[in-house]
Amino acid sequence: MSIEFLILHGPNLNLLGEREPEVYGPLTLDDINDRLSQHAATRQISLRIQQSNHEGVLIDTLHLARNWASGVIINPGAYTHTSIALRDAIASIDLPVVEVHLSNIHAREEFRHRSMLAGVCLGQISGFGWRSYVLGMDALLGHLGRLAE
Ligand code: DQA
Repeated sequence: MSIEFLILHGPNLNLLGEREPEVYGPLTLDDINDRLSQHAATRQISLRIQQSNHEGVLIDTLHLARNWASGVIINPGAYTHTSIALRDAIASIDLPVVEVHLSNIHAREEFRHRSMLAGVCLGQISGFGWRSYVLGMDALLGHLGRLAE
């Protein structure tokens, strides 16, 4: 069976590279997406990659993913800390979802320590820059039994 994952980037991540590089690093979103596509090719899986600054669009994209995706890697940006609607969307779709963050949200301001989403995700990976997404991809593959033990 062929495997396709959704990589979903949330608000303000389109500005990576110029946005607080001391926190989020120098890479642009295109740079990160290129690296993710390269990693996916080595794992023989395909990716559909989307970014939105809008909560409703992220929710619609998750709903649609249930028709085609084997799993989702989401960086929900600040919606991590606020969005019960995104949490409900993740809980509503029967797909494994991994929450990822570039920065270590637990080492930052207190309001970032709490995730509304982590409890309905397979797990959370935080603090490894763009590699958080790569780790998320491998975590999903492992969960689906597609990585060597
Ligand atoms: C982020 C962490 C969030 O707290 C923040 O609002 C972001 C980016 C991260 O990738 O480190 O927009 O999700």
